[in-house]
Amino acid sequence: MGDTSEASHDLAQLAKLAIAGQAEDVRLFVARLVRKYRSQEPVLAEQLDLHLKAKPSRAPSPLRKLPPPPTSQQGLPVDDESRLSLLKVLKDAPGREAPLLAQGLEETLEQLIQEHQQIKRLTSLGLTPTRSAIFVGPPGVGKTLTARWLAAQLQVPLYVLDLTAVMSSLLGKSGSNLRAAIDFAKREPCVLLLDEIDAIAKRRSDDTDVGELKRLVTVILQEVDEWPATSVLLAATNHPELIDPALWRRFDLVAHFNLPERTAIKEAVKRFLGPDYALFTRWIDILSFAFQGYSFSDIERDIQRFRRALALGTASDKGLVEDFIKARTIALDRQDRIELAVLLAQQTRLSQHAISDITGVSRDTIRKYTSTPIANAKKKITSKRG
Ligand SMILES: Nc1ncnc2c1ncn2[C@@H]1O[C@H](COP(=O)(O)OP(=O)(O)OP(=O)(O)O)[C@@H](O)[C@H]1O
Ligand SMILES: [Mg+2]
Repeated sequence: MGDTSEASHDLAQLAKLAIAGQAEDVRLFVARLVRKYRSQEPVLAEQLDLHLKAKPSRAPSPLRKLPPPPTSQQGLPVDDESRLSLLKVLKDAPGREAPLLAQGLEETLEQLIQEHQQIKRLTSLGLTPTRSAIFVGPPGVGKTLTARWLAAQLQVPLYVLDLTAVMSSLLGKSGSNLRAAIDFAKREPCVLLLDEIDAIAKRRSDDTDVGELKRLVTVILQEVDEWPATSVLLAATNHPELIDPALWRRFDLVAHFNLPERTAIKEAVKRFLGPDYALFTRWIDILSFAFQGYSFSDIERDIQRFRRALALGTASDKGLVEDFIKARTIALDRQDRIELAVLLAQQTRLSQHAISDITGVSRDTIRKYTSTPIANAKKKITSKRG
């Protein structure tokens, strides 16, 4: 199964190179296939090797056209062969809503903004502002969003470098593509985001040319070192363990983005509900509890779903929340289920029967915890957690 998909991948890559008329790259690729298949498919490897030797090494291909200049209409650099844009540009108004961030992180980023807004003051004192930062955290917690917000705050464009597009370029070209993209970004003050910087490391486990990937890392290392103080170079990753230690050290700042805590979840629920907030007031605490362990983007997705159903009139707020809680309780431990049941009993008019049905907590247990005042019930549950 794995073999078939690998072979398909190789075939597709070969076709791509051949159709593009890149004879030299085809030869390099075939040479690599010979090495790769030598032990598993010796006959195939030998045949490929024969073809390789039979063909003159530098036959100009009639299909080959002169490469177009490495810029697109908007002046953004593109890969010669695929014409894929290597950089995406995003320009947001400075009034953009700030991402919801943990307090420490918010303060760190505020300081970074200040440093760039008051760069003259810093330089007059012989100091340089933070030039680079790496954002670390699970998916959907605001790494990309924060990069956008930072750029908007600094009133500069945000360029996002598509490392996958860089790596899909022809053999030997990814390093120069990367340099071209970064050089382009360096021309004016900006925020450049190297999104999913671990993509390079991930590819190392592939059959991809290790030398090529090493070159890419070297280019990034140099570029981080030479990055101008008037711009901010950001990198984002979900996999800090895959980042080259040499690269890791180069960044001025490491910013950790975590899954939201309960208060941030509540803020997020309010924000994502927007004008439908009023309709959900009685469910806010319950939803905030149930969304624990979710990323912001997962919370947003569920809330958008609620809002669409309400807009279309296909469900009620009560029905939506009940269904959501029912599905959610499966993943909760017993103490969390009880806490949720107590919240439902205290904050909604649902019957104990309905609550038991939704949460799977027996009516006796619900009664036991709700017969005491709220504060005591909470204490009781938390003391049980031990
Ligand atoms: N901290 C946050 N505050 C407000 N909204 C957020 C936050 N984090 C994520 N979101 C919402 O989720 C969406 C996706 O977030 P974003 O793309 O920034 O995640 P990410 O951390 O870059 O994830 P990935 O690692 O998958 O790239 C955002 O566009 C926004 O709507
Ligand atoms: Mg992202």
